[in-house]
Amino acid sequence: MTDAEVILSPEHDAAIANFITYYQASDRLEAAGVGQTPAILLHGPPGCGKTVLGHTIAGRLGLPLLVARIDSMVSSYLGATAKNMRLLFEHAQSKPCVLFLDEFDAIAKIRDDNHELGELKRVVVSLLQNIDSLGRQTVLVAATNHEHLLDRAIWRRFTLHLHLELPDERLRRHLLERFVRGYAASDEIDLYARLTEGLSGAVIRTCAEDGVRAAIVANATAIPWADMIRRILAIRQIPLGDGRNVDDLRRIRELDPRFFTQKRLAELHDFSVSYVQKILTRRR
Ligand SMILES: Nc1ncnc2c1ncn2[C@@H]1O[C@H](COP(=O)(O)OP(=O)(O)O)[C@@H](O)[C@H]1O
Ligand SMILES: [Mg+2]
Repeated sequence: MTDAEVILSPEHDAAIANFITYYQASDRLEAAGVGQTPAILLHGPPGCGKTVLGHTIAGRLGLPLLVARIDSMVSSYLGATAKNMRLLFEHAQSKPCVLFLDEFDAIAKIRDDNHELGELKRVVVSLLQNIDSLGRQTVLVAATNHEHLLDRAIWRRFTLHLHLELPDERLRRHLLERFVRGYAASDEIDLYARLTEGLSGAVIRTCAEDGVRAAIVANATAIPWADMIRRILAIRQIPLGDGRNVDDLRRIRELDPRFFTQKRLAELHDFSVSYVQKILTRRR
């Protein structure tokens, strides 16, 4: 598995595998009169792997990927938008490929941009016509952070809908494993996976790779755990404090009481264990 492969939940993995199987059987399905345009709509918060999944699908199908950012195609001259779209779809059909429509919700933006509703309708109708005229050899993948902005008629054109949400602990562990690139031990990765709740895959990647870079520059063979913890807390905006305050120490300890022993709290703040003990036994 390379950086270009998405990491998915088992359910989503199965859905994608199934989609690919159907694509590969498209000749037989077509012959029986039950063929359908292979089309997936990906939605969910930013940084959760929609774009990477587009690449993964193309890679697994062995097809070239044609990426089009819809936001850059929506012209202030709407006639041009429909024309851009037609040219794009025509180009996509010149040979089998995965047509990836990123920032797909930009279609809906037309509604807010001082245009008449009629103009939006025309663009949507032309998009629907383009989708409907796609041959079975073109795999359509569309991604949006704002699925609720999409027209119902567009929504219905997609045979598979996947919501890529923020990664759960298991997925975060997989992401960390990949992105710390061997620069953290597995029990540390478990800890980081617990502490990165609420962070997207993109943020986790940045955090891990910043740690790796710092370790390499320091000629270290691993990211010091305290360094990684500081990075994670900073991103989650959890104040570390200077360690002299009992509330600061307790807040960190409560994040993971088993891991944050007095010894580790001392290491994190560069104090002696006896000093940490003294503060922790102090009354508030
Ligand atoms: N589930 C995931 N699997 C693999 N990489 C991921 C995942 N989620 C996020 N990433 C990483 O985060 C970055 C942003 O992901 P991206 O696919 O662009 O997110 P989106 O398109 O949903 O905004 C990518 O560089 C990728 O390496
Ligand atoms: Mg994206």
